[in-house]
Amino acid sequence: MKYNIAVIPGDGIGPEVIEQAKKVLNAVSYVYDHTFIYTEGLMGACAIDKTGNPLPEKTLEICKESDAILFGAIGDPKYDNDPSAKVRPEQGLLRLRKELGLFCNVRPVKAYEQLIDKSPLKKEIIDGTDISIFRELTGGIYFGIKELSDDGQSAFDGCSYSVEEIERISHLAFQEAQKRRKKLTLVDKANVLETSRLWRKTVTELAKTYPDVALDFLFVDNAAMQIILNPRQFDVILTENLFGDIISDEASVIGGSIGLLASASVGKENALFEPIHGSYPQAKGKGIANPLASILSVAMLLNHLGLIEESKAVEKAAEKSLELRVTTVDINSEKPFSTSLVGDFISDYIQNQNDTNLNFQNIHLGQSTII
Ligand code: IPM
Ligand code: MG
Repeated sequence: MKYNIAVIPGDGIGPEVIEQAKKVLNAVSYVYDHTFIYTEGLMGACAIDKTGNPLPEKTLEICKESDAILFGAIGDPKYDNDPSAKVRPEQGLLRLRKELGLFCNVRPVKAYEQLIDKSPLKKEIIDGTDISIFRELTGGIYFGIKELSDDGQSAFDGCSYSVEEIERISHLAFQEAQKRRKKLTLVDKANVLETSRLWRKTVTELAKTYPDVALDFLFVDNAAMQIILNPRQFDVILTENLFGDIISDEASVIGGSIGLLASASVGKENALFEPIHGSYPQAKGKGIANPLASILSVAMLLNHLGLIEESKAVEKAAEKSLELRVTTVDINSEKPFSTSLVGDFISDYIQNQNDTNLNFQNIHLGQSTII
């Protein structure tokens, strides 16, 4: 089959990790006889530098016409340290999410057996963790009215949600729970926020149509604690935009590195796949960025396209790289591999899946060939 993939490398380490993701997609196209047609677009600080606009219209068009979007990272310290900047890289991503209606952000968090000792959390606490975070992505405080008073002495960010916005992501979260361990936890702040009370009421109502799923509720402050105290209690977590942003970074600690967390942002017409780690500008160009989150995002992309076997092959190859410790410095300080070598290994492995005679020696010599 032929698929149009919009590729947005973005800022910082984005281009390096996206290059590895493309290597992996190319390996999949070779083995499974698909054609992926890549069209690149600019977004973020690099787009501001070239066009003055964090999301040029051309990029938006490319994305709209694609079967799936592969995105790297966004952000640059020169904007982070300038609160008065009117145009910011992140506006590009937020506008893209909104324009394409990518309301449902899925962030899987897993304690990988091979990395269990890398997490700063105790092994016995995180062992067996497998959580799917459903974060609402196009509403809430991210998209509310923003104001700064004329004298600069006060500011305002509004948060609003409609029943419709809550329902559409909740349906998807319930359906995911049905396929998993049949538990859904709504994370909110219903003891304080009106929007959270609407979430609780709406989700409780909807739960009646999913009687096989056990629904419970946690306030976000308690959830933040429970995620590191007893992460195994969670199956699917459903939450609003800002809470989801925060707890998904927190939960990434369970996996041993934020460099492993992939995500899918899905709407009715389009879908975007990206690592959650951000642009990590300090690492840009050094070849040390972990490409696994981007590669696992490719697995989610393939899954979205209905290419289930292909998606599993990518996951398996990524897990193999963890098992054989063909990994970057964030999870392998003793004998780290470069970003590019990890990408080479994973794409080679996909092309030689049935080869049991892995030449581990060669790999460790820095040659990615599997014999
Ligand atoms: C994320 C990021 C973004 C967000 C930023 C870059 C706007 O942190 O995808 O989690 O806050 O949604
Ligand atoms: Mg974030």
